Amino acid sequence: TYIIAEPCVDVLDKACIEECPVDCIYEGNRMLYIHPDECVDCGACEPVCPVEAIFYEDDVPEQWRDYTTANYEFFNELGSPGGASKIGKITADAPFVAAQPAKEG
Ligand code: F3S
Ligand code: F3S
Repeated sequence: TYIIAEPCVDVLDKACIEECPVDCIYEGNRMLYIHPDECVDCGACEPVCPVEAIFYEDDVPEQWRDYTTANYEFFNELGSPGGASKIGKITADAPFVAAQPAKEG
């Protein structure tokens, strides 16, 4: 799977959503999350993110390893809806993300 990391927090550019052929990038409150079981590793989302927040799971920088966990945890209650567009924005975040200080600007 691919993972969305810290640069997405409080930015939510959403360019990535347009690229995903399986509609597996879900909008949370402060960032977006890739569904680890629904992502088919096509990689189309990675180059379009203007803040370079998206990484292949094995390539997530060490300082952002908690975001790998967060991408999985976000779906603990949600399960596998099989499509983000029909769900829309989810006003929740993985606990680690919710606890991050707000970004300035
Ligand atoms: Fe976030 Fe980048 Fe997508 S900022 S919403 S991962 S395009
Ligand atoms: Fe979609 Fe990106 Fe995975 S475009 S299939 S979330 S690698």
